[in-house]
This record gives sequence, C-alpha cells and structure tokens, in this order.
Amino acid sequence: MNYNFAGIILAAGKGTRMKSEIPKVMHPLCGRPMLAYVLDLAQTLKLDRTIVITGHGRELLRGILTEYQADSVYQDRLVGTADAVRRTESALKGFSGNLLILYGDQPLLKAATLKKLIQRHISSLASATILTACMDNPFGYGRIIRDNYGRVQAIVEEKDASQEQKSVKEINTGIICFKKDILFKAIARIKPDNAKKEYYLTDAIKIMAAMGEAIQSLCISQDVREAQGINSRIDLAQAQKIMRQRILDNFMASGVSIIDPDTTYIEAGCKIGRDTVIYPFTVIEKDVIIKKFCSIGPFCHLRPGTRIEDKAVIGNFTEVVRSRIGQDTLMKHFSYLGDCLVSRSVNIGCGTVSANFDGKNKQKTVIGEGAFIGSDTILRAPVKIGKKAVTGCGSVIIKDVSAGEVVVGVPARTLRKTIG
Ligand code: UD1
Ligand code: CA
Repeated sequence: MNYNFAGIILAAGKGTRMKSEIPKVMHPLCGRPMLAYVLDLAQTLKLDRTIVITGHGRELLRGILTEYQADSVYQDRLVGTADAVRRTESALKGFSGNLLILYGDQPLLKAATLKKLIQRHISSLASATILTACMDNPFGYGRIIRDNYGRVQAIVEEKDASQEQKSVKEINTGIICFKKDILFKAIARIKPDNAKKEYYLTDAIKIMAAMGEAIQSLCISQDVREAQGINSRIDLAQAQKIMRQRILDNFMASGVSIIDPDTTYIEAGCKIGRDTVIYPFTVIEKDVIIKKFCSIGPFCHLRPGTRIEDKAVIGNFTEVVRSRIGQDTLMKHFSYLGDCLVSRSVNIGCGTVSANFDGKNKQKTVIGEGAFIGSDTILRAPVKIGKKAVTGCGSVIIKDVSAGEVVVGVPARTLRKTIG
C-alpha cells in the first residue's frame, strides 16, 4: 500500500499485570516476542516508516528494533497515550501524511483488517478512522460515543464514563488512522483532566469532532478477539492458543497433515512441505524447516536450527537441535541429535545420542551417506562417521570412522576396515 503512511507502535508500558522483569511486549507468543507480530504487520502493510515508542526496559527492545530497522522514540515518563504519540513530533518533522496507531501488546491483529481500515480512511477522506469492535462485555475499554446521526463524537474511557456511556457496547480497539497534521493540532489541546490524570490520545477524537473534522470508523465484525490486548499471563496463554491454531490451520491448508492439532505445538517461522505428516504430542520450535513427505512424531521435539530433508522419518521420543537430517534418513525411536550434519539414507538406530557438549562448547557430528548407526551408539563430538560406515550397538565413538569401516565396543575399535 502506498498512501504515505507512518506507523506508531506504542510499547512503553511496563505491563504491571505480567509481574515480570521483562517488558510486556518482549514476552514470546509461539516463539516470537509479541512486538515482532506488530512489526510484521507494519512490514506487510508496507508503511513508509515505523516508530516504536519505548519506555520500560527499552534496552531489551534494541535487538528486535535493529532486526526490523524500526525507529524508536523514548518516553521517559508514562503520562498517557497522547504524550507517547506527541513524542514522535521531531522524528516525523516534514512528514505530513497519515499515521496508523498500533499497540505492541496486540499481536493478534490481522493485516487484512488493517488494510480495510486504511482503505476506509483514504476513501472517506476522514481526519480520523477508528477500528472499533462490539463486545458483550466492554468493561475496561474506551466507548465510542455517537450523535443522533451516528457520527462519532468522542471516545470515553471506562473510568470517566457515565452509567449510560458504560452501557455502550461499541469499543475503541486503540487502532486509529489519523491525518498527521490535524492530529498534532488536536494533541496540543489535550489536557490530563480525567480520572487517571493522563494525556489520553482518545481525547483527540472529541477535539477533532469539535473542530468539524470528519471521524470515520470500521467495526471488526468477524472475530473481536483479534483486537484483544494482552495484559496478563492469562491473556498471553489465551492469545497463544489462538495464534497456535492459526499456525496449524495454515499448515493444514497448505498440504501438511496434522493428526491431532490439540496436542501439536508449532511455533512461528517454521516451514513444512506438502504431504508431511505430524503425529500427536509433537513440539516444533521456531524457524524449523521440514521438507516434503516426512513423518514426524509422535512425541518428537524439534528445536531451532533444525532442517529435515524430504522423506525423512523422525519418530517417537526424539529430539533434534541445530542439525540437518538428510533425505530418506530414519531416526525412528529414542534418540537425541544436536549439532549434527546427517547425510541421506542414514539409519539412526534406537537410542542413539550425540554427546555434543564438552562442558564448554557445542561440538559437531558429521554422518556420511548410507551410514548405519547401531542402537544405543554414543557419538562423542566432534566426530565424523564416513559413508556406509557401521557402528555396533552400544558402541561409544570417540574418534572418526572412515567410509565403510565397521566399529564396535567401548570405546569403539575397528572390527573390519571395509564392509562386505
Ligand atoms: C487504551 C485506550 C482505550 C482502548 C484501549 C484498547 C487511551 C487513553 N485509551 O486504553 O480507549 O479501548 O487502549 O486496548 O488511549 N502507553 C505508552 N505510553 C503511555 C501510556 C501508554 O506507550 O504513556 C502504551 C501502553 O504500553 C499500552 C498502550 O499504550 O501498550 C495503551 O495504554 P493503556 O494505558 O494500557 O491504555 P488502556 O487503558 O488499555
Ligand atoms: Ca491496555
């Protein structure tokens, strides 16, 4: 979308109800910080630029801001959402397009919804366009106050609302598009004369309406949960459920079989090829890559840095981390492979363990094509197993095994130099 839009993501809050040392927006949701989802939205919408308002624990946000090349503005005192937006003034000097206000703790929002909001804002020529939702229990949210013609007049916060206003079910999701120059004029007139003694961004609506500016709105009609803000760890767990289901649905829609979505956990950023089958009780952490026609699980744990090639079988009670498992390789039961480069058509016998940590560093194991790793083999890394080599069951491999060699015992010694 190219409409001269800048995004402002409010993320200065402490998140008191999380009871945490970590800033709220850095808490992970399916393996990625909440804030990353909001930054993803800004990227998907191709906003001209994005400014994140930071405050509590801002040094912990540095990494992710660099990753997304997002600008940030520091809000040293949290005196309200209008003050947060006002602080972008110098960063946005010379910019006179539109602003999209987003919140770092609303990771469930969908790009399609925001696209509709932006479309309405542009096509209606309004000075502000509010994303609203109708909630059975609107408690805690700002209410949308309309006149007899249905025009938006103001947003009134829960704590400042009269009984009659509290009965309004249409709420402010917090997401609002503004014409920047008009918003900043209105912000200059906002006063902290409310129950929380804060500068409310939502007061800009009342001021703009009084200035005769047109205010539009778009109501989320499908699933109001997408606008839910995350305030506590209970909210976080609920959001996790929703996000997890979205991830699973996307994979199933793209040709991956998931036998039991209720017990399958797949984090953000994973890629899984068509006709791969995921069996129950499987945990696949962020950014794992699994290609086509693989069989994964049940009871399998795939951790970051893992890549599984076509038609590999990773069976029950297995863990793989920072490893590549080649095409047609079988690792069917009770095994751990960490920091391993496993070639194609390898058999990883039951109970194989890579001893990849020497107490200080993680060490690598390389296994050549067609090798046969006997049951209960320990591979003390760093170590290399040649093509078509064989390790006997129960062997402990402490030095390299050459191609075709057969080794047995503890520590393993050569039984035959070449197989066959
Ligand atoms: C806000 C809206 C309310 C809306 C609700 C939706 C205002 C005044 N009210 O209420 O109408 O229904 O969101 O969830 O805007 N923040 C800062 N700096 C500050 C204050 C807040 O960055 O000085 C950030 C917070 O970290 C948070 C967001 O802004 O991410 C919202 O602030 P919060 O105080 O939680 O507002 P709500 O009471 O939720
Ligand atoms: Ca909030």
